[in-house]
Amino acid sequence: QKSPFDPEDAAGNAGTAGLRKGLTSYGDQGFSLFLRKAFIKGAGYTDAALDRPVIGIAGTGSAYNPCHGNALQLIEAVKRGVMLAGGLPMEFPTISVHESFASPTSMYLRNLMAMDTEEMVRAQPMDAVVLIGGCDKTVPAQLMGAASAGLPAIQLVTGSMLTGSHRGERVGACTDCRRYWAKYRAGEIEAEETVDVNNQLVASVGTCSVMGTASTMACIAEALGMTVPGGASPPAVTADRIRIAEQSGAQAVQMARDGLTIDKVLTPEAFENAMRVLLAIGGSTNGIVHLTAIAGRMGLDVDLAALDRMGRETPVLLDLKPSGQHYMEDFHRAGGMPALLRELKPLLQLNALTVTGRTLGEELERAGAGFAQDVVRTIADPIYPQGGIAVLRGNLAPGGAIIKQSAADPALMEHEGRAVVFENVGDLARRIDSDALDVTPQDVLVLKNIGPKGAPGMPEAGYLPIPRKLARAGVKDMVRISDGRMSGTAFGTIVLHVTPESAMGGSLAHVRNGDRIRLSVSKREIALLVSDDELARRASESPVVAPSAERGYRKLFLQTVTQADRGVDFDFLRAPRTIGKVPR
Ligand code: FES
Ligand code: MG
Repeated sequence: QKSPFDPEDAAGNAGTAGLRKGLTSYGDQGFSLFLRKAFIKGAGYTDAALDRPVIGIAGTGSAYNPCHGNALQLIEAVKRGVMLAGGLPMEFPTISVHESFASPTSMYLRNLMAMDTEEMVRAQPMDAVVLIGGCDKTVPAQLMGAASAGLPAIQLVTGSMLTGSHRGERVGACTDCRRYWAKYRAGEIEAEETVDVNNQLVASVGTCSVMGTASTMACIAEALGMTVPGGASPPAVTADRIRIAEQSGAQAVQMARDGLTIDKVLTPEAFENAMRVLLAIGGSTNGIVHLTAIAGRMGLDVDLAALDRMGRETPVLLDLKPSGQHYMEDFHRAGGMPALLRELKPLLQLNALTVTGRTLGEELERAGAGFAQDVVRTIADPIYPQGGIAVLRGNLAPGGAIIKQSAADPALMEHEGRAVVFENVGDLARRIDSDALDVTPQDVLVLKNIGPKGAPGMPEAGYLPIPRKLARAGVKDMVRISDGRMSGTAFGTIVLHVTPESAMGGSLAHVRNGDRIRLSVSKREIALLVSDDELARRASESPVVAPSAERGYRKLFLQTVTQADRGVDFDFLRAPRTIGKVPR
């Protein structure tokens, strides 16, 4: 008589591998399963609970991550959904990364989280995985990891925080954080008011309430087909959010049964839809870097020039801060992503498959008609006529740079000025507020050494503050240039992601005080008005030494991190073969 642990007894698994997945460790599969079941029974499971599709739930709750402060509630709801659909939910931890609590910068840890996610999804027996993320770097990290692991996967975001109220004015993180701090720097509000408003900016758990990177990645995840329909917008503390969690769990079981692996969802069509949405929501510039990294995991290169062309024919439809005026909870009340996708329909690839097993087009049919609201505009009446993000080139950025034109001052988008140069963040901190700083509103502020290797980790220091003496004189915006990133919640005429970065000897490294710089968004140009000969002379006079480290993660990071145009992923994590370009 056979033991039920013998490998040939594969009955009862409804076409999935369940707890049997990955049983190789002792060369005796029967014994491996015997051990595995013995251990899991130590947690009180019966055989009836174990012989069914296993759904992993990547939990990222952490006291250091208030953006995931509803994680326990979400996990409970996902588990309920999994069990209602006949699966076995298995929650497991991965690292969690929060924007304000990760040093030197959250971006430094994104790839580590992606590796953690990929390897734990690979290592542990599961037939599908629900990824619970929310704060800026977590959703891209999870999508990158899951893309490489290759299982059926579904993204569940934690949802946005509520808005607060300060002296009668509605406020939310973190566009208003920046606005209030700028007011304080300009001497417009007293120190005691900073204490009051500080209590109101983050009014609940959940992710930032404007179209920052977290909201952008939530919308992108839905546009990629990686969430259940309507999964992007419900705020963290709503019943809708919990229902989305339950649905995600149930859907994961169906995906396991159908073998709906992630490569069937993350297709070139899906990435085109995600790019279209990124442009149409006035999304965070970080979205480009993250999408590039996720696409790279599938062997797809992002073509920045084609993305820029796509931007010229994609209006910004979503009226959310920082490009517009509303917050995520308003977007949810206005119908969320289905409302936006319905409006964008003529520009979308409707055949792209989603985690529901239906195409985006089919999902939009099911979503039904819209209703009158003022958050999602029509194509005929956009809040900005072109896509939010423009791609710039020129001798200052041969590998490209970007600007969020929808959040920039129109008066500065065609501008030539004198460079005022800061060598690194420390230099900036020391001198930006000095009365002795030689700077006028027409100058161009340049910050070096905040690229992928420079800082390291490409921090969001690209939002250079207006020098205090100019801020006090009422200056609100200036042209600013760096090889870093900026928060999706920030605004201004800010050129970012200059590639190659200065720490690798890009021409940004050789900009000097007083050089002339020309920005022309209409011509998509960022030019350093210094001759090639002079730049070559400067390069030989002060050669750049790329940063290095002696050990540990920092060494791995500095040796393998790629530039912004490759998504700042580690080179060895990209798919081994390139299969095409997006947008096509
Ligand atoms: Fe977590 Fe903004 S800090 S989403
Ligand atoms: Mg952010």
